[in-house]
Amino acid sequence: MRSQMKRQNSQGKDGKAPLEERFADEARFFKAWVENPRITGAVSPSGRFLARMMARYVDPASNGPVIELGPGTGPVTVALLKRGVAPERLVLVEFDPYFCKLLARRFPRCRIVQGDAYDLAKTLDGVLEEPAAAVVSSLPLLTRPDADRTELLRQSFGLMHPEGRFIQFTYGMVSPIPRRSRANGSTLFEAEPSPPVWLNLPPARVWVYRPTGSPALIHKKPGAFAVKFKAGAEKMRGEIRETRDRVEEGFRETRDKVGVGIKERTQRARRQFELQRLRMSNDPALRPAITLLRKIGEHKKRPRD
Ligand SMILES: C[S@@+](CC[C@H](N)C(=O)[O-])C[C@H]1O[C@@H](n2cnc3c(N)ncnc32)[C@H](O)[C@@H]1O
Repeated sequence: MRSQMKRQNSQGKDGKAPLEERFADEARFFKAWVENPRITGAVSPSGRFLARMMARYVDPASNGPVIELGPGTGPVTVALLKRGVAPERLVLVEFDPYFCKLLARRFPRCRIVQGDAYDLAKTLDGVLEEPAAAVVSSLPLLTRPDADRTELLRQSFGLMHPEGRFIQFTYGMVSPIPRRSRANGSTLFEAEPSPPVWLNLPPARVWVYRPTGSPALIHKKPGAFAVKFKAGAEKMRGEIRETRDRVEEGFRETRDKVGVGIKERTQRARRQFELQRLRMSNDPALRPAITLLRKIGEHKKRPRD
């Protein structure tokens, strides 16, 4: 039993598989991709951050089997087991016979079904004793037409209980399954994307689908790191706001001071110019104006209280 558990999840404490196993998986995956790129859909297995993000959307306390589509060498399977899904609940549907043998060796307590996930109802005919809790898919959807993807989702919901979710990763920016009918624009499924998984190569995103009208997803409580990160970011934002306000205030003060100085100097220059012009005219009738301008100038020069 213990050795079975060990084989069920051969990853180290840091969540990484031993190096030689990872290299072997990369090589197997690459070979599968060279032989059949449309089926394999990627040149290397998903990274553990992406696999973890997929598993996050499966509630280990839910009832019923968890169906995994296109498990390949098993990185998402490992993440699901680590999440706490019992191996007996996992039904792995894989097309490639070589991957199936590998999965059987690696996860002896999971059920492995070799077959076509796009014909899911038929492939799993007689396999499930009760409605499934979730379908977790790494299938390369974009190599198939829209109609096949929509049908895959429809069949998957047919195998799940009403709260069941269909979880899919994609490297693209938009939902890999159309959410609206092309024919009449009606909503076919509700869907929510995860935050991007930047640490996967290439960066990816997970989409979670549910039937139209079913309640929204329950967002997981953020972890300790996320809480700390948010608090730090909020503090930093506050400090930036304060600094910006201080700089703006200083700028306003300087602008006002400079503005007033310029205005006063311009008026003085204008008065002096006018005075000079009047003096040069030598007209006795202008003498009162000259005296007035001089007095204004002297008054302005006097220091203010
Ligand atoms: C992109 S790989 C993902 C493998 C693995 N889950 C991972 O994340 O590294 C796609 C997998 O889906 C399998 N696959 C492709 N089409 C399939 C189909 N119609 N039915 C079942 N499996 C399929 C491929 O053999 C391959 O293992």
